Amino acid sequence: MIKKIDHLGIAVKSLEEAIPLWEKMLGTKCENVEEVASQKVRTAFLRVGEVYIELLEATAEDSPIAKYIEKNGEGVQHVAFRTDDIVAELAKAKDDGMRLIDEAPRQGAGGMDIAFLHPKSTRGVLTEFCSPAQH
Ligand code: CO
Repeated sequence: MIKKIDHLGIAVKSLEEAIPLWEKMLGTKCENVEEVASQKVRTAFLRVGEVYIELLEATAEDSPIAKYIEKNGEGVQHVAFRTDDIVAELAKAKDDGMRLIDEAPRQGAGGMDIAFLHPKSTRGVLTEFCSPAQH
């Protein structure tokens, strides 16, 4: 079951520039900066109540974030929903005719399992499911 919005993913050109801006805007401190090598990104999480802002910076030219910024500029890149069973959530989405980017969960930042639905099947919203890793 979907529990809540977990975070909004925001593509930025530079974490170094974006983190202080968002810290100032939200009156909070960045909790964690982490590189996710498999996705060629560095991520920074800032907490806003129950929800996080995930700032994403590309670490390579062929990173999904670099491609996103090239096409759309900086901005909100994905919405992530917390689920208690990511495998079941993916199976349900597939049954509902959604196109999956990830057929199986993979490791994301912060010890979470994550998987994406293709924006072509969600009316333009790159959608992430996430749940605390089971392994
Ligand atoms: Co995310």
